[in-house]
Amino acid sequence: MLITSKDLLKNARENHYAFPHFNYWDSNSIRAEISAAEELNLPVILAWAEKHSSEISIYDALTLGKYFGSKAKVPVVLHLDHGTNPDLVEWGIENGFTSVMIDASAKSFDENVKITKEIANFAHKRGVVVESEIGHVGTNSTNDSSMYTEKDAALKFAELTETDSLAISIGTSHGVYKQGTPKLNFERLADIRETLPIPLVLHGGSSSGDENLNKAIRNGITKVNIYTDLANASMQSLKNSNFNNEPEMASIQRKSISECAKHYFKVFETTKYKYQV
Ligand code: 13P
Ligand code: ZN
Repeated sequence: MLITSKDLLKNARENHYAFPHFNYWDSNSIRAEISAAEELNLPVILAWAEKHSSEISIYDALTLGKYFGSKAKVPVVLHLDHGTNPDLVEWGIENGFTSVMIDASAKSFDENVKITKEIANFAHKRGVVVESEIGHVGTNSTNDSSMYTEKDAALKFAELTETDSLAISIGTSHGVYKQGTPKLNFERLADIRETLPIPLVLHGGSSSGDENLNKAIRNGITKVNIYTDLANASMQSLKNSNFNNEPEMASIQRKSISECAKHYFKVFETTKYKYQV
């Protein structure tokens, strides 16, 4: 069943745990991620990122997401990740994503507000939820503390845009870290958590360190985005295995992606989630 993340993130915020967001890039990865969620009987957020357009188009990703998401034995949130093109995001909203991220975080505060507010209006009329970002989570080469989210700006941004959740920058980066486990600004996080009434999202979860991530969710993060670790687990599994044919190879990859996904469900304490009956 496909659902939005609204109730999931609200529950996570109230009960101090988080949901993992897993990017998928083909049918093998989405199958593996769903099977991890099914094994643990937990809802899952599956995401296609605009920057993966050259590997898999939005049409193909949406088709896969709707097909595998609808027949999954657990609730699935179908999320459009890092949408920088508002037209594409609106298309995604109208065609089946249940959650979208509008990412205008590289723009000025005022422009970010304007773009996010427009998408939030458009999405809410159609029952879709919106994540946005303030501050900026870059890659290794671009992330610096001047890009960390300021709590007053975050509050103003949330009020002006009516975003459903907010991605904040506290020291993680996308991809692998060149200088080992990052130092996260937990004080900043706790301050933002105290000030903002909406769920907070952490991007660049891969290789951030299990202890760091667990501490971040205990301090108010309710969704953590993971991509690189899943892709690397899949690649690494092939280096360490012998296989005789393509189906065997794909099965080894699925197993490694699924193990990585299950690991993060546990680190994020998603098992605290209880189905309402
Ligand atoms: P990582 O690739 O560092 O896990 O980041 C994922 C992400 O933030 C997707 O939006
Ligand atoms: Zn991200």
